[in-house]
Amino acid sequence: MRHLLSIEDLDRADIERICDRAGAFEEVAEREVKKVPALRGRTVLNLFYEASTRTRSSFELAAKRLSADVVNFAASGSSVEKGESLKDTILTLGAHKPDAIVIRTPWAGAAELVSRWTPAAIVNAGDGKHEHPTQALLDVHTLRRRLGNLDGAKIWIVGDVLHSRVARSNILAFQKMGAEVTVAGPPTLIPRGIEALGCDVRYTLDDLPQADVVYALRMQHERMTDSFVPSLREYATWYQVNGRRLGPRQVLMHPGPVNRGVELSAEVVDSPQAVITAQVAAGVVVRMAVLYEVLAHANATAPHETDPSHPVPA
Ligand code: NCD
Repeated sequence: MRHLLSIEDLDRADIERICDRAGAFEEVAEREVKKVPALRGRTVLNLFYEASTRTRSSFELAAKRLSADVVNFAASGSSVEKGESLKDTILTLGAHKPDAIVIRTPWAGAAELVSRWTPAAIVNAGDGKHEHPTQALLDVHTLRRRLGNLDGAKIWIVGDVLHSRVARSNILAFQKMGAEVTVAGPPTLIPRGIEALGCDVRYTLDDLPQADVVYALRMQHERMTDSFVPSLREYATWYQVNGRRLGPRQVLMHPGPVNRGVELSAEVVDSPQAVITAQVAAGVVVRMAVLYEVLAHANATAPHETDPSHPVPA
């Protein structure tokens, strides 16, 4: 795998291979010295044009646990424009000879564009409303740990699907893994034609009890230019996942950050059904597996750099 730009580029075998390798990396986090030398001498550049807590810290930790050198570059969203200046930034930072660039931007398609401007491997950490492939992979990993496999699992993705790159990547990844996906929310927050992705669409939570997994999305205020719901309180009345709507055997997921009291009630965030913290922990090992995967390709094209003795799980 040269880059990770979109879940569309992966098939089920790719997803399983990445999750299996992530599983093998879990043991590293249990060690006293939480490091393996797999990417020693490699440089990973984290380029974040948008706010991030989980994604950024887990990519940094993932690269460090593989012994790569990490450079963090935070572009303040206000001073950097898209187009030429994104290109200039990439060309300038290219002077540091990064082997991989992890990039998050508010612009759909930016990760793909960047992959044409640099020889580095590109990992999409979120491009606008388009995709967030590592989130989908860590969610698949979390569910495989919890359910064994996703074949036939009924997964409901609830809330602001319209503005969510997580929804798009997760619909694709969950379906590739054999799950049946339903999206649910107010009509104003469900994109027209989303059925074309193969999912079912509901505008109420009446049938939510059918779901094995309830995946709640954050209301993405920062991407809303108009008023999509009458008020957050009204939204919560109809679409909040709370103790009344969540059954004891359902698994509850959320990509974070949670708006407590809006898409989720506080009681369900802290309930035993919630795997939200497990998702965050999965983020580190899955991103280790992704970095290993894209940089192992670089190894294959530069055989003199291959270290056959690196103790990386197969
Ligand atoms: C998501 C994102 O930024 O796309 N967060 C994340 O990466 N865990 C979802 C969100 O912001 O709601």
